Amino acid sequence: MTDLLDLVKKEAAEIDCYMRADLASMGAETDPLLQKVLDYGLFNGGKRVRPLLVVICSRLCGNRSKDAYRLGMAFEYLHAATLFHDDIIDGSATRRGKPAVYKEFDIVAAILAGDFLHAHSMALVSEYAGSKGLASFCRATKGMVDGEFMQLQNAEKHNLSEIDYYNAIMGKTGLLIAAACEVGAIFAGADEKSVTALRKYGENLGCAFQIIDDILDYLGDSAKTGKAVGNDLAEGKMTLPLILALQKADSADKMLLMQALKAGTENKDIGLKTVIKVINRNNGFTDAREHAERAIQNACNELRTFDSLDVRGECELLQALGYFILKRDK
Ligand code: IPE
Ligand code: IPE
Ligand code: MG
Ligand code: MG
Repeated sequence: MTDLLDLVKKEAAEIDCYMRADLASMGAETDPLLQKVLDYGLFNGGKRVRPLLVVICSRLCGNRSKDAYRLGMAFEYLHAATLFHDDIIDGSATRRGKPAVYKEFDIVAAILAGDFLHAHSMALVSEYAGSKGLASFCRATKGMVDGEFMQLQNAEKHNLSEIDYYNAIMGKTGLLIAAACEVGAIFAGADEKSVTALRKYGENLGCAFQIIDDILDYLGDSAKTGKAVGNDLAEGKMTLPLILALQKADSADKMLLMQALKAGTENKDIGLKTVIKVINRNNGFTDAREHAERAIQNACNELRTFDSLDVRGECELLQALGYFILKRDK
Protein backbone atom coordinates (compact mmCIF):
# COMPACT_ATOMS: atom_id res chain seq x y z
CA MET A 1 0.00 0.00 0.00
CA THR A 2 2.77 2.47 0.92
CA ASP A 3 4.53 1.53 -2.32
CA LEU A 4 1.39 2.27 -4.27
CA LEU A 5 0.90 5.60 -2.51
CA ASP A 6 4.47 6.56 -3.36
CA LEU A 7 3.91 5.58 -6.95
CA VAL A 8 0.63 7.50 -7.14
CA LYS A 9 2.38 10.61 -5.78
CA LYS A 10 5.34 10.24 -8.13
CA GLU A 11 3.15 9.73 -11.19
CA ALA A 12 0.85 12.60 -10.16
CA ALA A 13 3.89 14.90 -9.98
CA GLU A 14 4.97 13.77 -13.44
CA ILE A 15 1.50 14.38 -14.87
CA ASP A 16 1.55 17.85 -13.31
CA CYS A 17 4.85 18.59 -15.08
CA TYR A 18 3.31 17.65 -18.41
CA MET A 19 0.25 19.77 -17.76
CA ARG A 20 2.31 22.79 -16.73
CA ALA A 21 4.48 22.51 -19.83
CA ASP A 22 1.38 22.12 -21.99
CA LEU A 23 -0.32 25.20 -20.54
CA ALA A 24 2.90 27.21 -20.77
CA SER A 25 3.21 26.29 -24.45
CA MET A 26 -0.25 27.80 -25.05
CA GLY A 27 0.56 30.79 -22.85
CA ALA A 28 0.90 33.40 -25.54
CA GLU A 29 -2.41 32.43 -27.15
CA THR A 30 -4.52 32.38 -24.01
CA ASP A 31 -6.03 35.27 -22.10
CA PRO A 32 -4.30 36.11 -18.77
CA LEU A 33 -7.51 35.63 -16.77
CA LEU A 34 -8.10 32.24 -18.41
CA GLN A 35 -4.53 31.26 -17.50
CA LYS A 36 -5.19 32.28 -13.90
CA VAL A 37 -8.42 30.28 -13.72
CA LEU A 38 -6.74 27.19 -15.19
CA ASP A 39 -3.80 27.46 -12.85
CA TYR A 40 -6.11 27.80 -9.85
CA GLY A 41 -8.48 25.02 -10.89
CA LEU A 42 -5.94 22.46 -12.04
CA PHE A 43 -3.10 22.54 -9.52
CA ASN A 44 -4.57 22.05 -6.10
CA GLY A 45 -4.10 18.49 -4.98
CA GLY A 46 -6.25 16.38 -7.32
CA LYS A 47 -5.44 12.66 -7.10
CA ARG A 48 -4.81 12.36 -10.88
CA VAL A 49 -6.45 8.91 -10.93
CA ARG A 50 -7.66 9.16 -14.53
CA PRO A 51 -4.31 10.01 -16.22
CA LEU A 52 -2.62 7.39 -14.04
CA LEU A 53 -5.03 4.79 -15.45
CA VAL A 54 -4.20 5.86 -19.02
CA VAL A 55 -0.49 5.42 -18.33
CA ILE A 56 -0.79 2.04 -16.57
CA CYS A 57 -3.24 0.59 -19.13
CA SER A 58 -1.04 1.68 -21.99
CA ARG A 59 1.96 0.00 -20.33
CA LEU A 60 -0.09 -3.12 -19.65
CA CYS A 61 -0.78 -3.31 -23.37
CA GLY A 62 2.90 -3.01 -24.24
CA ASN A 63 3.44 0.70 -24.92
CA ARG A 64 5.78 2.51 -22.53
CA SER A 65 5.98 5.75 -24.54
CA LYS A 66 5.96 8.99 -22.56
CA ASP A 67 3.23 10.26 -24.90
CA ALA A 68 0.84 8.30 -22.67
CA TYR A 69 1.28 11.14 -20.17
CA ARG A 70 0.20 13.70 -22.75
CA LEU A 71 -2.80 11.54 -23.57
CA GLY A 72 -3.45 11.14 -19.83
CA MET A 73 -3.53 14.91 -19.41
CA ALA A 74 -6.63 15.03 -21.59
CA PHE A 75 -8.53 12.98 -19.01
CA GLU A 76 -7.47 15.24 -16.18
CA TYR A 77 -8.47 18.30 -18.20
CA LEU A 78 -11.89 16.90 -18.96
CA HIS A 79 -12.30 15.80 -15.34
CA ALA A 80 -11.36 19.29 -14.12
CA ALA A 81 -13.77 20.86 -16.62
CA THR A 82 -16.61 18.72 -15.28
CA LEU A 83 -15.70 19.70 -11.71
CA PHE A 84 -15.70 23.44 -12.57
CA HIS A 85 -19.22 22.93 -13.92
CA ASP A 86 -20.31 20.36 -11.31
CA ASP A 87 -19.70 22.74 -8.42
CA ILE A 88 -21.97 25.30 -10.07
CA ILE A 89 -24.63 22.66 -10.72
CA ASP A 90 -24.41 21.24 -7.18
CA GLY A 91 -24.00 24.61 -5.45
CA SER A 92 -20.83 23.31 -3.76
CA ALA A 93 -18.69 26.14 -2.44
CA THR A 94 -15.53 24.18 -1.65
CA ARG A 95 -13.30 21.95 -3.78
CA ARG A 96 -9.97 20.47 -2.75
CA GLY A 97 -10.01 22.59 0.41
CA LYS A 98 -10.36 25.91 -1.37
CA PRO A 99 -13.22 27.97 -2.82
CA ALA A 100 -14.62 26.29 -5.94
CA VAL A 101 -13.55 27.94 -9.21
CA TYR A 102 -16.88 29.73 -9.66
CA LYS A 103 -16.58 31.15 -6.12
CA GLU A 104 -12.97 32.29 -6.51
CA PHE A 105 -13.66 33.88 -9.90
CA ASP A 106 -17.25 33.87 -11.14
CA ILE A 107 -19.71 31.60 -12.89
CA VAL A 108 -18.87 32.92 -16.35
CA ALA A 109 -15.13 32.32 -15.90
CA ALA A 110 -15.77 28.81 -14.53
CA ILE A 111 -18.06 27.85 -17.42
CA LEU A 112 -15.73 29.23 -20.09
CA ALA A 113 -12.57 27.72 -18.59
CA GLY A 114 -14.39 24.36 -18.45
CA ASP A 115 -15.36 24.70 -22.12
CA PHE A 116 -11.76 25.54 -23.01
CA LEU A 117 -10.45 22.44 -21.23
CA HIS A 118 -13.12 20.29 -22.84
CA ALA A 119 -12.14 21.40 -26.36
CA HIS A 120 -8.44 21.12 -25.62
CA SER A 121 -8.85 17.62 -24.20
CA MET A 122 -10.60 16.43 -27.38
CA ALA A 123 -7.77 17.81 -29.51
CA LEU A 124 -5.22 15.92 -27.40
CA VAL A 125 -7.13 12.63 -27.59
CA SER A 126 -7.47 12.87 -31.36
CA GLU A 127 -3.75 13.65 -31.64
CA TYR A 128 -2.61 10.64 -29.59
CA ALA A 129 -5.39 8.07 -29.89
CA GLY A 130 -6.93 8.85 -33.30
CA SER A 131 -10.57 8.67 -34.26
CA LYS A 132 -11.19 5.42 -32.38
CA GLY A 133 -9.86 6.95 -29.15
CA LEU A 134 -11.80 10.15 -29.73
CA ALA A 135 -15.01 8.19 -30.31
CA SER A 136 -14.55 6.47 -26.94
CA PHE A 137 -13.75 9.77 -25.24
CA CYS A 138 -16.81 11.50 -26.71
CA ARG A 139 -19.06 8.56 -25.81
CA ALA A 140 -17.95 9.00 -22.21
CA THR A 141 -18.44 12.78 -22.31
CA LYS A 142 -21.95 12.44 -23.69
CA GLY A 143 -22.66 9.75 -21.09
CA MET A 144 -21.54 12.09 -18.32
CA VAL A 145 -24.01 14.75 -19.35
CA ASP A 146 -26.70 12.10 -19.64
CA GLY A 147 -25.80 10.87 -16.12
CA GLU A 148 -26.16 14.40 -14.77
CA PHE A 149 -29.61 14.73 -16.38
CA MET A 150 -30.56 11.35 -14.89
CA GLN A 151 -29.43 12.61 -11.51
CA LEU A 152 -31.67 15.66 -11.91
CA GLN A 153 -34.65 13.44 -12.56
CA ASN A 154 -33.61 11.15 -9.72
CA ALA A 155 -33.62 14.09 -7.32
CA GLU A 156 -37.34 14.51 -8.08
CA LYS A 157 -38.05 10.85 -7.44
CA HIS A 158 -38.05 10.06 -3.79
CA ASN A 159 -38.28 6.31 -4.28
CA LEU A 160 -35.07 5.87 -6.20
CA SER A 161 -34.12 2.30 -7.07
CA GLU A 162 -30.63 0.83 -7.00
CA ILE A 163 -30.85 0.59 -10.81
CA ASP A 164 -31.58 4.32 -11.23
CA TYR A 165 -28.64 5.06 -8.94
CA TYR A 166 -26.28 2.76 -10.83
CA ASN A 167 -27.29 4.22 -14.20
CA ALA A 168 -26.56 7.73 -12.95
CA ILE A 169 -23.16 6.92 -11.41
CA MET A 170 -22.09 4.87 -14.40
CA GLY A 171 -22.85 7.91 -16.55
CA LYS A 172 -21.35 10.63 -14.45
CA THR A 173 -18.26 8.81 -13.15
CA GLY A 174 -17.90 5.25 -14.48
CA LEU A 175 -17.74 6.08 -18.16
CA LEU A 176 -14.87 8.57 -18.00
CA ILE A 177 -12.77 6.27 -15.82
CA ALA A 178 -13.61 3.42 -18.21
CA ALA A 179 -12.63 5.58 -21.19
CA ALA A 180 -9.28 6.40 -19.55
CA CYS A 181 -8.53 2.65 -19.43
CA GLU A 182 -9.96 1.94 -22.88
CA VAL A 183 -8.18 4.83 -24.60
CA GLY A 184 -4.89 3.90 -22.89
CA ALA A 185 -5.27 0.44 -24.47
CA ILE A 186 -6.26 1.86 -27.87
CA PHE A 187 -3.21 4.16 -27.77
CA ALA A 188 -1.04 1.08 -27.18
CA GLY A 189 -2.58 -0.71 -30.18
CA ALA A 190 -4.15 -3.45 -28.06
CA ASP A 191 -6.49 -6.11 -29.48
CA GLU A 192 -10.28 -5.88 -29.04
CA LYS A 193 -10.36 -8.38 -26.18
CA SER A 194 -7.87 -6.38 -24.12
CA VAL A 195 -9.55 -3.06 -24.89
CA THR A 196 -12.91 -4.45 -23.74
CA ALA A 197 -11.49 -6.03 -20.57
CA LEU A 198 -9.86 -2.76 -19.56
CA ARG A 199 -13.01 -0.78 -20.31
CA LYS A 200 -15.01 -3.11 -18.08
CA TYR A 201 -12.33 -2.92 -15.39
CA GLY A 202 -12.70 0.89 -15.54
CA GLU A 203 -16.50 0.82 -15.43
CA ASN A 204 -16.45 -1.22 -12.25
CA LEU A 205 -13.63 0.78 -10.72
CA GLY A 206 -15.46 4.02 -11.55
CA CYS A 207 -18.71 2.87 -9.93
CA ALA A 208 -16.82 1.82 -6.78
CA PHE A 209 -15.09 5.19 -6.84
CA GLN A 210 -18.41 7.06 -6.86
CA ILE A 211 -19.96 4.83 -4.16
CA ILE A 212 -17.01 5.64 -1.90
CA ASP A 213 -17.40 9.33 -2.78
CA ASP A 214 -21.06 9.09 -1.77
CA ILE A 215 -20.13 7.43 1.55
CA LEU A 216 -17.47 10.09 2.17
CA ASP A 217 -20.09 12.75 1.50
CA TYR A 218 -21.67 11.63 4.80
CA LEU A 219 -18.76 10.24 6.79
CA GLY A 220 -15.68 11.94 5.36
CA ASP A 221 -13.50 14.44 7.13
CA SER A 222 -13.84 17.65 5.13
CA ALA A 223 -10.27 18.59 6.05
CA LYS A 224 -9.20 15.55 4.03
CA THR A 225 -11.77 15.39 1.23
CA GLY A 226 -11.56 19.16 0.70
CA LYS A 227 -15.36 19.21 0.23
CA ALA A 228 -18.20 19.98 2.64
CA VAL A 229 -19.91 16.98 4.26
CA GLY A 230 -23.65 16.47 3.90
CA ASN A 231 -23.85 18.20 0.55
CA ASP A 232 -25.71 15.37 -1.21
CA LEU A 233 -28.44 15.27 1.43
CA ALA A 234 -28.72 19.05 1.46
CA GLU A 235 -29.30 18.95 -2.29
CA GLY A 236 -31.91 16.21 -1.96
CA LYS A 237 -29.64 13.69 -3.73
CA MET A 238 -30.42 10.07 -2.88
CA THR A 239 -27.22 8.11 -2.88
CA LEU A 240 -26.50 4.45 -2.17
CA PRO A 241 -26.14 4.58 1.66
CA LEU A 242 -29.58 6.18 1.91
CA ILE A 243 -31.17 3.93 -0.72
CA LEU A 244 -29.93 0.79 1.02
CA ALA A 245 -30.86 2.05 4.49
CA LEU A 246 -34.41 2.73 3.26
CA GLN A 247 -34.69 -0.91 2.17
CA LYS A 248 -34.15 -2.09 5.75
CA ALA A 249 -35.70 0.79 7.69
CA ASP A 250 -38.93 0.42 9.67
CA SER A 251 -41.66 2.94 8.95
CA ALA A 252 -40.47 5.46 11.58
CA ASP A 253 -36.89 5.46 10.27
CA LYS A 254 -38.17 5.61 6.71
CA MET A 255 -40.24 8.65 7.50
CA LEU A 256 -37.32 10.40 9.17
CA LEU A 257 -35.00 9.75 6.24
CA MET A 258 -37.53 10.94 3.70
CA GLN A 259 -38.25 14.06 5.75
CA ALA A 260 -34.53 14.79 5.98
CA LEU A 261 -34.16 14.41 2.24
CA LYS A 262 -36.98 16.84 1.53
CA ALA A 263 -35.93 19.17 4.35
CA GLY A 264 -32.49 19.59 2.82
CA THR A 265 -33.88 21.26 -0.27
CA GLU A 266 -36.33 23.25 1.84
CA ASN A 267 -33.53 24.44 4.11
CA LYS A 268 -35.00 22.93 7.27
CA ASP A 269 -32.58 21.33 9.62
CA ILE A 270 -33.12 17.72 10.64
CA GLY A 271 -29.47 17.40 11.48
CA LEU A 272 -26.90 15.45 9.56
CA LYS A 273 -25.84 13.59 12.72
CA THR A 274 -29.35 12.18 13.19
CA VAL A 275 -29.53 11.09 9.56
CA ILE A 276 -26.13 9.41 9.81
CA LYS A 277 -27.27 7.56 12.92
CA VAL A 278 -30.40 6.29 11.20
CA ILE A 279 -28.51 5.24 8.05
CA ASN A 280 -25.99 3.50 10.30
CA ARG A 281 -28.52 1.51 12.29
CA ASN A 282 -30.02 0.28 9.03
CA ASN A 283 -26.57 -0.77 7.73
CA GLY A 284 -26.65 1.76 4.88
CA PHE A 285 -22.94 2.54 5.02
CA THR A 286 -21.72 -1.03 5.51
CA ASP A 287 -24.01 -2.32 2.77
CA ALA A 288 -22.90 0.44 0.38
CA ARG A 289 -19.27 -0.39 1.15
CA GLU A 290 -20.02 -4.03 0.27
CA HIS A 291 -21.39 -2.89 -3.09
CA ALA A 292 -18.13 -0.99 -3.72
CA GLU A 293 -16.09 -4.05 -2.70
CA ARG A 294 -18.06 -6.23 -5.08
CA ALA A 295 -17.48 -3.74 -7.91
CA ILE A 296 -13.73 -3.80 -7.22
CA GLN A 297 -13.85 -7.60 -7.25
CA ASN A 298 -15.60 -7.50 -10.64
CA ALA A 299 -13.00 -5.02 -11.89
CA CYS A 300 -10.15 -7.30 -10.81
CA ASN A 301 -11.83 -10.32 -12.42
CA GLU A 302 -11.56 -8.56 -15.79
CA LEU A 303 -7.78 -8.58 -15.41
CA ARG A 304 -7.75 -12.37 -15.82
CA THR A 305 -7.74 -11.70 -19.56
CA PHE A 306 -4.06 -10.84 -19.14
CA ASP A 307 -3.10 -13.88 -17.03
CA SER A 308 -1.11 -15.60 -19.76
CA LEU A 309 0.97 -12.50 -20.55
CA ASP A 310 4.05 -11.27 -18.79
CA VAL A 311 2.38 -8.19 -17.29
CA ARG A 312 1.93 -9.24 -13.70
CA GLY A 313 3.39 -5.96 -12.40
CA GLU A 314 0.86 -3.78 -14.23
CA CYS A 315 -2.07 -6.05 -13.27
CA GLU A 316 -0.99 -5.90 -9.64
CA LEU A 317 -0.91 -2.11 -9.87
CA LEU A 318 -4.45 -2.02 -11.23
CA GLN A 319 -5.58 -4.36 -8.45
CA ALA A 320 -3.84 -2.24 -5.84
CA LEU A 321 -5.51 0.84 -7.26
CA GLY A 322 -8.85 -0.84 -6.61
CA TYR A 323 -7.96 -1.37 -2.95
CA PHE A 324 -6.61 2.18 -2.75
CA ILE A 325 -10.02 3.43 -3.92
CA LEU A 326 -11.82 1.36 -1.27
CA LYS A 327 -9.56 2.69 1.45
CA ARG A 328 -9.39 6.28 0.32
CA ASP A 329 -10.37 9.03 2.72
CA LYS A 330 -9.89 11.94 0.32
C1 IPE B 1 -14.38 13.84 -7.77
O1 IPE B 1 -13.35 13.14 -8.40
C2 IPE B 1 -15.64 13.67 -8.52
C3 IPE B 1 -16.10 12.28 -8.55
C4 IPE B 1 -16.17 11.62 -9.67
C5 IPE B 1 -16.51 11.62 -7.34
P1 IPE B 1 -11.93 12.88 -7.71
O2 IPE B 1 -12.15 12.34 -6.33
O3 IPE B 1 -11.09 12.11 -8.66
O4 IPE B 1 -11.37 14.35 -7.55
P2 IPE B 1 -9.89 14.86 -7.44
O5 IPE B 1 -9.50 15.13 -8.85
O6 IPE B 1 -9.01 13.85 -6.78
O7 IPE B 1 -10.05 16.12 -6.64
C1 IPE C 1 -19.35 13.53 -9.53
O1 IPE C 1 -20.33 13.63 -8.63
C2 IPE C 1 -19.37 14.68 -10.47
C3 IPE C 1 -18.80 14.46 -11.79
C4 IPE C 1 -18.45 13.34 -12.27
C5 IPE C 1 -18.68 15.67 -12.60
P1 IPE C 1 -20.33 14.46 -7.30
O2 IPE C 1 -21.15 15.69 -7.45
O3 IPE C 1 -20.68 13.51 -6.19
O4 IPE C 1 -18.81 14.88 -7.13
P2 IPE C 1 -18.27 15.79 -5.95
O5 IPE C 1 -18.71 15.16 -4.67
O6 IPE C 1 -18.86 17.13 -6.17
O7 IPE C 1 -16.78 15.75 -6.12
MG1 MG D 1 -20.68 17.66 -6.87
MG1 MG E 1 -19.88 13.71 -4.17
